[in-house]
Amino acid sequence: HEGSWDSGTSYMKVSQVSDLSLPTEARKCPRECICDGTKLTVACVGKNLTEIPPSIDEITVKLDLRNNNLQVLSRGAFMHTPYLTHLNLQRCNIIKVKEGAFRTLGRVVSLNLAQNKIDILYQESFDGLSSLKELHLDHNRIEEIQPGAFTQLGFLNTLSLTHNQLVYIPNMAFQGLHSIKWLRLSYNSLNNLAPEAFAGLFTLNRLSLDHNELQFFPSQTMMRLREVTRLDMSHNPMIYLGEESVSMAKLMHLYLNHMSLQDLSDQALSGAPLLSHLDLSHNQLRSLEPLSGPKELTSLNLTGNHIYCNCYMRPLKEWARVGGVKLLGSCAGPPHLSDELLQTVAPLDLRCHSRGETLKEEEEEDESTANTTPIPTSKPKQKAKCPVNCECNIEAQHATCEDRGHTKVPRGFPTKTQLLDLRGNHFHHLPANSFPGSSQVVSLHLEFCKIHEIEDGAFQGMKKLFYLYLSDNDLTFLESRVFAGTPELTYLHLEGNRLAQFPGSALSLLPSLFVLHMERNAISKLQPTGLLFSATPKLKDLYLSNNTITVIARGALVSASLSTLHLDSNQLTEVPTQALTEASNLEELNLSHNSLRWVGPKAFQPVHQSLKRLYMDHTGIEKMSSEALLGLGSGLRALTVRGNQLKELPDLSPLTGLEVIDLRDNPLLCDCPLLPLRRWMESVSLEVIATCGHPPELRGQKVKDVHVFTSCPENTSPRYKKVVVDPKPPKIQKSKPSPSKSPGDKARREKPKTKAAKPAKKQAPRKPVTLKKTKNKKIL
Ligand SMILES: *[C@@H]1O[C@H](CO)[C@@H](O)[C@H](O)[C@H]1NC(C)=O
Ligand SMILES: *[C@@H]1O[C@H](CO)[C@@H](O)[C@H](O)[C@H]1NC(C)=O
Ligand SMILES: *[C@@H]1O[C@H](CO)[C@@H](O)[C@H](O)[C@H]1NC(C)=O
Ligand SMILES: *[C@@H]1O[C@H](CO)[C@@H](O)[C@H](O)[C@H]1NC(C)=O
Repeated sequence: HEGSWDSGTSYMKVSQVSDLSLPTEARKCPRECICDGTKLTVACVGKNLTEIPPSIDEITVKLDLRNNNLQVLSRGAFMHTPYLTHLNLQRCNIIKVKEGAFRTLGRVVSLNLAQNKIDILYQESFDGLSSLKELHLDHNRIEEIQPGAFTQLGFLNTLSLTHNQLVYIPNMAFQGLHSIKWLRLSYNSLNNLAPEAFAGLFTLNRLSLDHNELQFFPSQTMMRLREVTRLDMSHNPMIYLGEESVSMAKLMHLYLNHMSLQDLSDQALSGAPLLSHLDLSHNQLRSLEPLSGPKELTSLNLTGNHIYCNCYMRPLKEWARVGGVKLLGSCAGPPHLSDELLQTVAPLDLRCHSRGETLKEEEEEDESTANTTPIPTSKPKQKAKCPVNCECNIEAQHATCEDRGHTKVPRGFPTKTQLLDLRGNHFHHLPANSFPGSSQVVSLHLEFCKIHEIEDGAFQGMKKLFYLYLSDNDLTFLESRVFAGTPELTYLHLEGNRLAQFPGSALSLLPSLFVLHMERNAISKLQPTGLLFSATPKLKDLYLSNNTITVIARGALVSASLSTLHLDSNQLTEVPTQALTEASNLEELNLSHNSLRWVGPKAFQPVHQSLKRLYMDHTGIEKMSSEALLGLGSGLRALTVRGNQLKELPDLSPLTGLEVIDLRDNPLLCDCPLLPLRRWMESVSLEVIATCGHPPELRGQKVKDVHVFTSCPENTSPRYKKVVVDPKPPKIQKSKPSPSKSPGDKARREKPKTKAAKPAKKQAPRKPVTLKKTKNKKIL
C-alpha cells in the first residue's frame, strides 16, 4: 500500500503546482492570520482563537496556530486544509482531541500538540494521519493511552510524550507504530511497565525513559526491544541491578546515571553483548566487578560514585586494561588515593589489609560494610528471614510492613534490604537505634505513623540512607542529633507535621541534603540562626508552603545552591528582598497566597541574574512600583500575578524570554497609562489574558479589545521599544523623529538580557518582519 500512497502524493503535487500560478491576491487569508503566498504558509499565532479560521486557503501546507484557545478539536476539524504537511497546535489550551479530528490530514508529516491539557489519548485520536513522521505531545497531562491510539501511524518516526503524567504503560500501548525510531517517555511518573508494553516496536532504536519513578529495571519489557541501540534510564530511583537485568541484543549505549544504584551484579549486563558505552555516573557504587557479557565496551563512566580504591577494584581495573575499556571517574578513598583517576591509578596501589599507614582507614571501611558481604563476588545466600507481619523480597531487596498496625519498629530484616516501607503504622515514638542492621537501607518510609517524638540517634547506623519520609506525622520539634549517623541523606520529607521552628540544628548533620520538604507545618519565622545553610551546602529545593511565615530575616537563606524556594500560602506581607541577597542562584520563587499588598522597587534585584519563574498569584497586591521588576530580563520564563488588585502594571517589555504570563483577575484601569501593556500584548506571541476593571463602562472587557487607547497621545509610551512590529503603519512613522534615542535605549536594555539568559531558545518569535519591511518600503 506504500506504493499507492506515494503515487497519490505526486499526483496531488501536480495539481498543487498549477494552483501556484494563481495571482496571490486571489488567495484567502483570514483576518487574524499572516499568510505567505509563495511558501503556502499561514500563521495565526497568539490570537485566542476558539476555532480554526474557516477561511484558510485550501492550498495551505504549513499552518501555525500556536498560542490560541481551541479547547476541543472536533471531528473533521481540518477538513478545509487537506494539503497540510505541518501543523503546529502548541499551547492551544486543547483539552480533548475527539476521534477523527485529523481524519482528513493524510499528508501531515509533523504535528505538534505540545503544551496543551490533553489527559487521555483515545483509540482513534490520531486516525487519518497516515503520513505522520513526528508527533509531539510533550507537556500535556496525559495519564492514559487507550489501546489502539496509534494504530494508524504506520510512518511515524518520533513519538514524544515527555513531561506528562503517565504512571503505567499497558500492554500493546504502541501497537501499529511500524516505523518508529525514537520513543520519548522522559519526565513522567512511570513506575510500572507491562511486560508487553513495547510489543510490536520492531524498528525502535532509541528509547528515553529517564526522569521517571522506576524502581527496578523492567527486564521483561525491555527484552522485547530487539533493535534498540540506545536506552536512557537515568534519573530513576533504582538501587540494584540483579543478574540478567538487561537482555537487549543490540544495545550499544546505556544510560544508568543519576540513579541510586548501590550495587550491580557482575551478570547484570550479560544479555547486552554489543554494549559499547555504559554510563553509571552519579550513583552510590563503592566498588564494581568486571562485567560479564559486553565484549565491545569502550567506556564505563563511574564519575560521581564513591569508589573505594582497594584490592576489590583490582579485577575491574585489570579487566578494563585487557578489554580496552576506558574508566571515567575517580577514587573516593582511601585518603592517599582520593581523587586519583580510575584510569590512571596503578593496580598495585589497589590494596587491602596491608599493615602500616592505611590500616586505620580500612578498618573504617570494614566497619561500614560489616553487615554485608563487602563485595558482590560470592553468590549472595538467599536465606529468607523476615519479621512477623512483614514481607521481604530478597532479590529486589525490598521489605514492607505497610499498614500492619505495628506499634514498634520490627527488627530482623534481611541485611541487604535497601527499601524499607513502614508507612501507616502506629509507632508514636522512635527510640535511639530503631533500625539496627539496616546499614544498607537507601529508602525508608515512615509516613502516617503518628510519630510525635524521635530520639537522638534513632537512625544511627543507616549509613546509606538517601531518602527519608517522615511526612504526615505529629512532630512538633526535632532534637539536634536525630539525624546522627545518616550522612548520605539527600531527600528529606517532613511535610505535614506540626513543627513550629525550622529544625536548623538537626539539619546541620546532613551535609548531602539536596531537597527538603517542610510544607504544612507551623513555622512562623525564619531566623538567621535557624537555617544553618552553611551545614547543608548542597540544598537545592526548599519547600515551605502552607506554614505561617510572617518574617524572613536577612541571613536566613544563606545558600548559593538554593534554586527552588516555595513560600506560597504563608503570611508574608512583603517580598523578602533582603533575605534573597544570599540566595543568588534562585531560579524559582513561589510567593502565591500571601498578603503582600505592594511590591516595591527592585524587589527581585538580588536574584535578577538567575530567576526564571516567579509566582505571585492571590497575594492581594494593589500596586507594583514601576521599578518592581527592575533587573529582570530575558531570563524570566514565567510570571504570574493572577487574582490581585492591580490597576496597572510595570513595563513588561524587557521580559523577552517569557513563555508563561498570567495577568488574569486584576481590575486593570483601561486608560492611557496602560498603553504600553496593550502594545506589548500585541507584540508578543503569547496568549496574554487581561481584562479591564475600570473605568466602569469598560469593566469586564478585554484589554486588547477596548478602543480607549486610540485617543492616547503617542508620547505616553516613551519606554515602548517595539513600535516597528506594530501592525499599524502610522506608528512606524512615529518612531522616526527620535531615531537616536530609540536604538540607544534598546541597546541598553538588551545588554543584561544576553548576559542573563544563555539558553534563550524559546524567545517569543518576532512577528513577520519580512512582511513589515515591504510595507515600510512602500511608506517611505
Ligand atoms: C561521565 O559522566 C559525567 C557525569 O554525569 C558526565 O559529565 C561526563 O560527560 C560523562 N563522560 C562521558 C564520556 O560520557
Ligand atoms: C495548602 O493548604 C491548602 C488548604 O488546606 C491546600 O488546598 C493546598 O493544597 C496546600 N498546599 C500545599 C502546597 O500543601
Ligand atoms: C505556587 O503556589 C500556589 C499556591 O500554593 C500553587 O497553587 C501553585 O501550584 C504553585 N506553583 C508552582 C509552580 O509550584
Ligand atoms: C479567550 O477566549 C475565551 C473564550 O471565548 C474567553 O473566555 C477569554 O476571555 C479570551 N481571552 C482573551 C485574552 O481574550
